[in-house]
Amino acid sequence: MSSRAPSLTVVVVVVVVVGWTTLVEAIAQPPAAEGAESAAIGQLAGDIERGRARSAELYCSVCHGPVGVSETPEWPTLAGQVSTYLARQLHLFRVRERASPEMEPIAASLSDRDIADLAVFYAAQQPPAVSGASSCAPAADRLYRHGDKARGIEPCAECHGPTGAGRDADGQPALRAQQAIYTAKQLEAYAAQRRYRGQRDLGQEAPGADAMRATAHKLTREEIEALASCLQRPRDR
Ligand code: HEC
Ligand code: HEC
Repeated sequence: MSSRAPSLTVVVVVVVVVGWTTLVEAIAQPPAAEGAESAAIGQLAGDIERGRARSAELYCSVCHGPVGVSETPEWPTLAGQVSTYLARQLHLFRVRERASPEMEPIAASLSDRDIADLAVFYAAQQPPAVSGASSCAPAADRLYRHGDKARGIEPCAECHGPTGAGRDADGQPALRAQQAIYTAKQLEAYAAQRRYRGQRDLGQEAPGADAMRATAHKLTREEIEALASCLQRPRDR
């Protein structure tokens, strides 16, 4: 049995003949047994270098950039994102609970090992240093740091961290240096209960999703846009 990687010509022919999904399936490791929960839990034992290689082989880099910095407003930046959060989301795309026409077919063929390796690879990359003056409106900054007691809105900083870097231990995602269009779309999706299909009780598969639905529901459209635009920049405090 040859252990050599297929040549480029073979890959191109395979893509043309059998299509994208089949190729991705062919490259992916065989999926681990049903019920394996490595994607949903605490500390991840992943291999950064294998994750880097898989991100190129599986064409993740085409949309998310070679080091996870997206150049397209609708496609999220993954660089510097919390690893446990990334793994959980890939798992949720794989089981078709998080809805996305772009991500569901790709995630379907990922093995647990791919998910762990891709998650630690992207988490280890530098988030982009977005340049230019801060566009953080004072009201949005106040909401981020202090919430709004009267309306029952908890401070975003409490869960996402003062600098928006997220919290690895609890898998709360980083928000800083994220594409504003993507952030606004997610807040709207939580508010409208569209981010997840609701086919299963998410529980520990997406801890905090209920809190996010409740929070996003209380935000006005203007607040969502102001917060999203504020969070496109790195936060220094
Ligand atoms: C065709 C473009 C495309 C490709 C290829 C692609 N993605 Fe995505 N990815 C997206 C889009 C679009 C979203 C946002 C989906 C949404 O709006 O909910 C996304 C979301 C994600 C998220 C969730 C981010 C978050 O902050 O919640 C992760 C993780 C992710 N992709 C990882 C990957 C990995 C790993 C691969 C390769 C195996 C990959 N993507 C390939 C377009 C792509
Ligand atoms: C009680 C804790 C908590 C609070 C308060 C909170 N969040 Fe979240 N947020 C989370 C968790 C946990 C997730 C991931 C949930 C999931 O798995 O879907 C999340 C997800 C998000 C996402 C999606 C990230 C992505 O990459 O797709 C955005 C955007 C977001 N929160 C913005 C905010 C903003 C803005 C505020 C304040 C107005 C806020 N959050 C308040 C815990 C919180």
